[in-house]
Amino acid sequence: FAEEPTIGERKQVDNIAHRGATGYAPENTIAGFDLAVDMKADYIEIDVQRSKDGELVVIHDTSVDRTTDGTGKVGDLTFDYLRSLDAGSWKGEQFAGEPIPTFEEILDRYHGKVGILIELKAPELYPGIEEQVADKLKERNLDKPQNEKIIIQSFNFESMKTMDQLLPKVPIGVLTSNRADTTAEALQEFSAYADWFNPSYGIVTEELVNQVHSLGMQIGSWTVRSQEAADFLFEMEVDAIITDYPDYVDPRN
Ligand code: G3P
Ligand code: CA
Repeated sequence: FAEEPTIGERKQVDNIAHRGATGYAPENTIAGFDLAVDMKADYIEIDVQRSKDGELVVIHDTSVDRTTDGTGKVGDLTFDYLRSLDAGSWKGEQFAGEPIPTFEEILDRYHGKVGILIELKAPELYPGIEEQVADKLKERNLDKPQNEKIIIQSFNFESMKTMDQLLPKVPIGVLTSNRADTTAEALQEFSAYADWFNPSYGIVTEELVNQVHSLGMQIGSWTVRSQEAADFLFEMEVDAIITDYPDYVDPRN
């Protein structure tokens, strides 16, 4: 990977658009990801799941009920049905008709243009999804560090161990909001396969940031929904903020 940009002695904080520019546009839609790119996000964050008939789709909840006009569990629904749903209207009529994106269309539309932070959402529901995701990245030569910014993360640590074995050159992240995952032992264990430790901001402390760094990992924290939260994380000197508002800026820049 290219060297991280620095400002003086300090590392630039990556600005990661959580599910897209979710503060302004429907989450996990092209409209929201395009807006994040316009807002100069360093990465977009996407949630990947799988339809009943095996297509990888980008949606956060394990059911379609909250963010679409349909109903049911993602893994029980066919791709044709999922694709027919309106994933935009709930956020405003100007977004009517925004479909649930496929994982492949997101890779093809954005790789090389913006970093992509890929979350495997509830991978325990989708046996073999790790191999499927790895294959889609390999088909596009995104499995080797070049000038592409790709990270794969999950709350499911076993899934991330698998992912690290499948794609040894792609950075892996672990997600948690659990303080029990911040002990020295737990962090040491994560560092065997993870490059990023990504906690909710409520459990971030200066000490945690230092511990993560001393193990050679980076730290990205979520979900920022206020300038105050962003400022706290800038102060903590995390490496990335995962935010619904990618237009928040580091006041020290
Ligand atoms: O990237 C961090 C964040 O996405 C984890 O929480 O529930 O928004 O997927 P969630
Ligand atoms: Ca996510």
